[in-house]
Amino acid sequence: MAVLLTGGAGYIGSHTAVELLSAGYQVVLADNFCNSSPQVPRRIEQLTGKPAPIYQLDVRDADALEQVFKENQVDAVIHFAGLKAVGESVERPLLYYRNNLDATLTLLEVMAKYSCHRLIFSSSATVYGDPERVPVNEDMPVGGCSNPYGRTKLMIEQILLDAAAADPGLSVVLLRYFNPVGAHPSGLLGEKPNGIPNNLMPYITQVAAGIRDHLNVFGNDYPTPDGTGVRDYIHVCDLAEGHLRALEYAETHRGAEAFNLGTGVGYSVLDVVHAFERANGLTIPLVFAPRRAGDLPAYWADAEKAARLLNWRTRRSLEQMCADSWRWQRNCD
Ligand code: NAD
Ligand code: UD1
Repeated sequence: MAVLLTGGAGYIGSHTAVELLSAGYQVVLADNFCNSSPQVPRRIEQLTGKPAPIYQLDVRDADALEQVFKENQVDAVIHFAGLKAVGESVERPLLYYRNNLDATLTLLEVMAKYSCHRLIFSSSATVYGDPERVPVNEDMPVGGCSNPYGRTKLMIEQILLDAAAADPGLSVVLLRYFNPVGAHPSGLLGEKPNGIPNNLMPYITQVAAGIRDHLNVFGNDYPTPDGTGVRDYIHVCDLAEGHLRALEYAETHRGAEAFNLGTGVGYSVLDVVHAFERANGLTIPLVFAPRRAGDLPAYWADAEKAARLLNWRTRRSLEQMCADSWRWQRNCD
């Protein structure tokens, strides 16, 4: 019995592969490497001492995907494959709708054909749009996403809810990630953004590495304790463990269920900068800049449902996230 990880060579998929293999699962990866490196499967094997077979394919290619199901007894799928750059999705919306929606529809059709009934989906906290209050819990309404990327997540959630409603045998878990950061403590796996990073942590590590000369802090006049934006940063290894718990949950539950994967604690931009400086003994030069369009002041998870039903809690501190991010930055070139 194997777990198929679409997008398994990517940032979150690769960490989840390590977690699953270490827990004794058999894993198969499928990725077209449009945002990852063919070296990743080897690094997963190096870390776990177990095989991580990889199929280089586009998930939208039904014939290629069927081959994976023919050659492996796929018992469950974790669907990471998707495009995720918010800015690019505004510029090239059709690319995002075509890639993210088609990949999911093709996957669902192939799964049905091969009687595979368990699916874990990489959703995002972005589906809550601009929530009426924080922390955000799973009963709050979804919608009002500000960009095409976020709308693909929302649409896919709806597709999966409809599919689960129509097929009582299907088990779907929607995992709404908050802000994944950090890297594997070995320094062998992590996230390598293309071009200028959009997200806070990779920007900070590039400043630390001297690639950028300072961090622009987007807004210091928010109604937050220090005026800078507050988010729920989660270590990617904690996030990976959440997938393991979700797989176990989906073994015994039918239907579709959504879970927030966050720490339940919000940290400001300045909290992150100071934690990074403390963890790594470095100074990060910064400049206060205007607010970034589309940013919310404060956003963090109510993580109680995942604790209660998945028996999952985060364990790693903000300092660990910063130390592991920096180790990866130094190793990744
Ligand atoms: P990533 O880009 O590192 O990984 C995605 C992988 O999918 C890449 O390896 C890419 O090559 C592959 N891929 C994309 N389209 C494909 C296709 N059609 N066929 C085959 N492979 C394809 O991103 P990640 O950070 O690991 O994110 C994984 C998932 O989690 C994505 O769906 C993303 O939208 C979602 N997510 C990520 C974050 C985040 O901050 N990283 C937050 C919320 C949700
Ligand atoms: C961003 C996306 C969100 C996506 C998520 C994926 C936007 C508006 N939102 O979320 O849709 O799901 O990434 O990880 O793009 N910051 C700075 N300086 C920087 C970068 C960021 O001050 O150079 C601040 C931001 O204003 C924010 C915080 O750091 O307050 C976190 O930003 P980021 O890492 O981009 O995450 P989100 O904005 O939460």
